[in-house]
Amino acid sequence: MSQALQAAPGRTAAAVRLDGVSKAFGSGAGALLALDNVSLDVRPGEFVCLLGASGCGKSTLLNLVADLDRPSAGTIDTGGARVALMFQEPALFPWLTVTGNLELALKMRGVPRSERRGRAADLLTSVHLDGFAKKRPHQLSGGMRQRVALARALALTVDEKDPDTGTVLLMDEPFGALDAMTRDLLHDEIERIWRERGLTVLFVTHNVREAVRLGDRVVLLSSRPGRVVEEFPVPMERPRRIDSTEVATLAGTITDRLREEVGRHGR
Ligand SMILES: Nc1ncnc2c1ncn2[C@@H]1O[C@H](COP(=O)(O)OP(=O)(O)OP(=O)(O)O)[C@@H](O)[C@H]1O
Ligand SMILES: [Mg+2]
Repeated sequence: MSQALQAAPGRTAAAVRLDGVSKAFGSGAGALLALDNVSLDVRPGEFVCLLGASGCGKSTLLNLVADLDRPSAGTIDTGGARVALMFQEPALFPWLTVTGNLELALKMRGVPRSERRGRAADLLTSVHLDGFAKKRPHQLSGGMRQRVALARALALTVDEKDPDTGTVLLMDEPFGALDAMTRDLLHDEIERIWRERGLTVLFVTHNVREAVRLGDRVVLLSSRPGRVVEEFPVPMERPRRIDSTEVATLAGTITDRLREEVGRHGR
């Protein structure tokens, strides 16, 4: 998975390439097929949103790309890029302060001790959490914890030793628990950071408008087992407003397609 990616003739190099990926949990009669023959290329610097019904295999797919689990069939190539995953749950260390959680991530990425405090403070500013540096996770609201998790994922995209390596940021429903106002602010923030750092983003959400607000492309997965059923390019200029007519119109089209897909499975 870490080998440099060679573009095959007629195919451009991808930051993430899934080729015929299937994933089954368990074996024999009790086996559960979560993903079925998923092929997907994400271009370097592209922002791809992944939509699909609950249980269709979205988190499974991100875990496979993050190399936390292995596919049952098919291949996944990230071309040697750094991969940072922001989980569906915040997954912070409860015994460390907010700053401590961020500093640990920065330490893992080779940031010298003398710089960690300042970098952690900058990351907290970027997720609008100045003033909460010394709190522990249990002292924060669910939405605030999720924002710390976002800051930590961003810390994990840093690599002092190899700053030129591409970075793939995987985000699993990062803003699902947030109020609309905070979510809108963080959409602006993640878009800015994505642009400035040239990140490649694979972003899972249930929220169709959010997918259209953020994505260069929206990929729709079928109900379990997850397969790619349709892809929607998003040609609108950025920054977009989640409540704009253009976003609402394309989101309506995608929602209709999603309903059709969920309906086919009787859910
Ligand atoms: N470690 C595991 N062992 C067994 N089954 C699993 C495991 N992880 C996921 N599954 C099953 O695989 C299917 C896909 O799960 P996954 O978590 O990927 O769905 P999801 O699309 O992320 O759903 P949601 O939108 O609710 O987060 C589900 O039926 C789930 O029960
Ligand atoms: Mg999930």
